[in-house]
Amino acid sequence: MSSAYDQLLDATITHLEDLKSKGARNVTVSTETLRALALPAKFAVSRPAAVTPVALAATKPIPRPAPVMAMPKPVTTTLFSLNKPPAPALVISADSAKAAAFAELQTRVLACVKCANLASSRTTVVFGVGNIDSPLMFVGEAPGADEDAQGEPFVGAAGQLLTKIITAMGVSRADVYIANILKCRPDTPGESSGNRKPTSAEMATCIPYLHEQIDLIKPKAIVALGATAVEGLLGKTLGISKLRGNWQTYRGIPLMPTYHPAYLLRNQAMSEKRKVWEDMLQVMEKLEMNITPKQRGFFQQATT
Ligand code: URA
Repeated sequence: MSSAYDQLLDATITHLEDLKSKGARNVTVSTETLRALALPAKFAVSRPAAVTPVALAATKPIPRPAPVMAMPKPVTTTLFSLNKPPAPALVISADSAKAAAFAELQTRVLACVKCANLASSRTTVVFGVGNIDSPLMFVGEAPGADEDAQGEPFVGAAGQLLTKIITAMGVSRADVYIANILKCRPDTPGESSGNRKPTSAEMATCIPYLHEQIDLIKPKAIVALGATAVEGLLGKTLGISKLRGNWQTYRGIPLMPTYHPAYLLRNQAMSEKRKVWEDMLQVMEKLEMNITPKQRGFFQQATT
């Protein structure tokens, strides 16, 4: 008699093969479903996973991970105790090979258990969001509590400010791509809240995923939000106040370091907001975006 996990996996594979035989080449798998599929038998249930045919290349059977992985709390990981809506996993690109490669990367990252501490403490992996054909990419540090809960980067207070900055540039969040150095929320054992900087080991483990994202997206400019993003991408620890506003290069791509929006929330001085806006104007110039007199004039009066 096969285990409930095996039955679940068999049902999923049968469903995917059926879709494939009908011509489907892409499916979307929610973060929750992927996590549930990655569970060993003792946490799995026998009902088939909800795999919906949309646009994500994952028609291969999902490999079962090695049993050494650290388990999340069972209450949040059994298949049918998950009430949250699935994380958006749709991958759209003008280039179907690029979409397929990005979807494959996403599938791998969502199932990552390389950092046992983070794999066991996270609610979800925060892969990244936005337009993979965008010329503009924003890179932050790591998910916080809100991002961990929603599976999307920059959705908390700092994220809302980042969204305002992006909107002020005349584009929407959906027009750019947003990702983090670390894809899991840094754990804070023994504390019910709070954030911490990713460790060097965590950054070194996770950064190849970001390299792969950037290699596929091929943005024309990258904005590194804060010191950790600069350190992760460039290995520079000079200090963000020294680096910001000065173009750097990441593998041939212009990279603009600027303050993290969380810094702007902590330091409400107009002078600091103005610096970030000046950095964004430089990015807009680099991308030959239209800059209106109003955009040029933001903060013109601001001196404090
Ligand atoms: N801060 C970050 O650096 N990334 C997020 O996704 C959220 C907050």
